[in-house]
Amino acid sequence: MSKVAVVFWSGTGNTQAMADAVVTGAKDRGADVTVFGASEFSKENVSEFDGIAFGCPAMGAEVLEETEFDPMFTDIEGNLSGKKIALFGSYGWGDGQWMRDWEERCSATGAILVTDSVMANDAPGDEALEECKELGAALV
Ligand SMILES: Cc1cc2nc3c(=O)[nH]c(=O)nc-3n(C[C@H](O)[C@H](O)[C@H](O)COP(=O)(O)O)c2cc1C
Repeated sequence: MSKVAVVFWSGTGNTQAMADAVVTGAKDRGADVTVFGASEFSKENVSEFDGIAFGCPAMGAEVLEETEFDPMFTDIEGNLSGKKIALFGSYGWGDGQWMRDWEERCSATGAILVTDSVMANDAPGDEALEECKELGAALV
């Protein structure tokens, strides 16, 4: 059975709702899914999974959340080469720059982005939630 991790940070629940849909999509495709809060995941976990979905909203000034998510991601990114990953997150007033920068950072590590990233403006609507399910399925 394909093993998928969903690793996310969410302050007000919008990225959490996206993460829930990612989990549903991966499970519907038959994956064994484990959910981690950002501070619970470390580089030792990377090799345990066939695919990893990472979720983080735009924070600061178009950056990843700086207290838990970015330190975790900085710790693990050296272990992502060849790993199947996908990215999702919510944003507010920006234009998605945080996600473009994050995708570039992931590509530089040699990680394989298996599908387009999913962004939701504030709370995800039905369309974004459906895209999150497809993102989860794409990792299986
Ligand atoms: C401290 C802080 C910084 C933020 N910075 C940005 C930003 O740079 N660009 C943006 O589009 N939205 C920004 N936002 C808006 C959040 O990305 C948005 O509210 C998002 O829905 C939060 O997701 P969450 O509910 O998963 O925490 C910021 C919000 C906060 C609280």
